[in-house]
Amino acid sequence: MSADPKPATHAYRVTPRADGRQERRLLSDKLQARLERQLTDTIAAALTRLQLMPTGGSRELAAWIGEFFRLHADSPAGENPGGSGVNDSLWLFVIARALAPNRIIESGTHRGHSAWIFHRACPETPIDTFDVDTGKLTWSHEKLRAHQGDWTATIGSDPANAEALVFFDDHINHARRVAEAHARGFRWLLVDDNFAATQVHATGGPPLPSLAMLFDPEVVPGDEIAWSRNGKNYAWTYTQEAEYGARELIESYTPLPELGEITRFPTGSGLSLVRLAAPRA
Ligand SMILES: C[S@@+](CC[C@H](N)C(=O)[O-])C[C@H]1O[C@@H](n2cnc3c(N)ncnc32)[C@H](O)[C@@H]1O
Repeated sequence: MSADPKPATHAYRVTPRADGRQERRLLSDKLQARLERQLTDTIAAALTRLQLMPTGGSRELAAWIGEFFRLHADSPAGENPGGSGVNDSLWLFVIARALAPNRIIESGTHRGHSAWIFHRACPETPIDTFDVDTGKLTWSHEKLRAHQGDWTATIGSDPANAEALVFFDDHINHARRVAEAHARGFRWLLVDDNFAATQVHATGGPPLPSLAMLFDPEVVPGDEIAWSRNGKNYAWTYTQEAEYGARELIESYTPLPELGEITRFPTGSGLSLVRLAAPRA
């Protein structure tokens, strides 16, 4: 009998990058094309329901998705720890491109990754980004204005706000952000971290309530929402005051489909598109 065969080894070739960064091209051409086709199908179905498909249909959408993959790895924020990952970034890119807003406002700058994605989706659109600490921002551009502090101190009501897009990625109460945006005449919002009450442990410092909690008939005033994360216990009591009357201000809201099932990048953060009711006369 012969000696044990040598253990099998992997047959692939490995060529590490000197800078350790993600390649601009994720997969070999044929596989990348297949991945982008799968993403196009899923995103097209959602955009069709939202009546946001581009005039050029799936062919134009596929071109946007290809463009996103060619530019994504160049983000000045790098891998963007603590901020939007690949799946949510693709949604931010596609929704901004589809809406073609006259202005973009973001609360939650962090390293500036999501603002950069918006800029690449809508290069001519002015962007105002807000954070309590703008010191982490990694890029600058004449179209980008970074503000330190809460967005409500700077942005007022304006009829033109109806054509703008606001992205809330600051982990603040979604109902409060909805009320603030509605009072200023905004109609289109993207909110991140829209986790259900049963998923509240999924992010540090979750928005309380999230829109998912606000519309959950099983979450009622007086309920304790308690969870454990990274060795700490947290608790918050749901109250009617925390709702800010926001339910009546929302015409519709749509959680955007999870793309991680297709890309296998880490799952996104419950990104949701919100259409607010028209301002009161
Ligand atoms: C998850 S990070 C934002 C990630 C970023 N949008 C991205 O995708 O790359 C959340 C940020 O919200 C900021 N933040 C916390 N409270 C805030 C507030 N009241 N207004 C604006 N930003 C706030 C935090 O400092 C943090 O940088």
